[in-house]
Amino acid sequence: AGEHDLVVVANRLPVDMTVADDGSLSWTRSPGGLVTALAPVMQRNAGAWVGWSGTPDLEHEPFDGEGMRLWPVRLSESEIAAYYEGFSNGTLWPLYHDVIVDPQFHRAWWNAYVSINRRFAAAAAEAVAEGGTVWVHDYQLQLVPAVLRLLRPDVKIGFFNHIPFPPLEIFSQLPWRRQVLEGLLGADLVGFQRESDAKNFLRAVRRLTDLPTRGRVVTIGERWARPARQVRAASFPISIDSTAFDALASSPAVQKRAVEIRKELGDPEVLLLGVDRLDYTKGIRHRLKAFGELLADGRLAAPEATLVQVASPSRERVEQYRQLRDEVEATVGRINGDYGALGRAAVHYMHHSYPMEEMAAMYRAADVMLVTSLRDGMNLVAKEYVAARRDLGGVLVLSEFTGAADELTQALLINPHDIDGTKAAIMRAIAMEPTERRRRMRGLRRRVLDHDVQRWAEDFLTALANPRPHPRPLV
Ligand code: G6P
Repeated sequence: AGEHDLVVVANRLPVDMTVADDGSLSWTRSPGGLVTALAPVMQRNAGAWVGWSGTPDLEHEPFDGEGMRLWPVRLSESEIAAYYEGFSNGTLWPLYHDVIVDPQFHRAWWNAYVSINRRFAAAAAEAVAEGGTVWVHDYQLQLVPAVLRLLRPDVKIGFFNHIPFPPLEIFSQLPWRRQVLEGLLGADLVGFQRESDAKNFLRAVRRLTDLPTRGRVVTIGERWARPARQVRAASFPISIDSTAFDALASSPAVQKRAVEIRKELGDPEVLLLGVDRLDYTKGIRHRLKAFGELLADGRLAAPEATLVQVASPSRERVEQYRQLRDEVEATVGRINGDYGALGRAAVHYMHHSYPMEEMAAMYRAADVMLVTSLRDGMNLVAKEYVAARRDLGGVLVLSEFTGAADELTQALLINPHDIDGTKAAIMRAIAMEPTERRRRMRGLRRRVLDHDVQRWAEDFLTALANPRPHPRPLV
């Protein structure tokens, strides 16, 4: 057995590493709430984090960083192509997001997924102490729980799926659906963002395996496991480091920068903002269509109304992402061609990412935040916007197809496929009276500040450590 009482397994390490020519290593913490949430509990529990460095072929021994042991898993170029770009992001990602684009089913990709999942499981098995806990994250690693259980029957295993779990009718398309379910059922607790995801999973287990389920508990009988054991499924909506984000956004430097941003944009009357990874699940084209039509209809005029769209580069070697980029950029060009003026674009489009401070300043500067995902596990941008608005300014327009919509009910909820409905919500957001705006934002902030990522991690780990004798029924 290894020496770590708590081991996190995720596709990516929480750091960006570089190895110099002389072999010396340097790394910086990568942005993302997960590491912030887990750092304190990892420090308390002699934690280790198993993950890929993000660089092809990088081979390195485990090392200490960020108050934990960082445990790199090596992936070769061809493994990245088949396991990461292929099965994870060409098969599972579109399948689990309601087949917005066609998932590709290739047996060679599946084989790579199996072998890489085994590699991650083997690393976790080596790292974890006798009787310790392993927490596996996300769709790239769904087979890890079952493989790990064979290697280390003594450990507690939790799995959390950060993206949606699809309805049975869609999940059933997967040629390897049984193997995926069996992989997940290696865990003691399988966590999801929304109740509907947990229900979809349990329904898939009922229909595609012959295992008995009762409420949210699946019993793995003697035929599969000795002794028989139980797997629970439940929802744990993820969040952000709300207090830290609130403080950052209200700092004098960020407030000053927010004022500057509006000035640099030519002091528009209405500033609309979109912030996403450049991904087809985010509904960026739908958002641009709604904005473009409002300009065409004359209900909005540019540059008095300006849209800032930050689209951070993502998965650029996957074909559907290249296509999306071309389409988004063509649409932005068309809108600016039709409605822009010298020195005054209608849409300011940025295909890069920004430091957290700059993002906080943009949130603070924006009158209306547009989150129009066609499907989204949670959407943390919506929560960041809310946390940034201590001034109670700004209106959140939020797709009902996000996990966040279950909690952020005081946003203006939209169906992004309904372009007229989205246009109406944008106009309503712009015209909203300050009293209503403040009342809504106050309610949203209460939720986000109260349910932060620390609480999420604690809830999950507590549920994993203390299985309830009488689990909550599914509602
Ligand atoms: C989503 C997934 C994560 C993933 C992230 C960035 O949030 O749930 O697992 O890490 O996107 O995508 P990337 O492919 O760059 O890791």
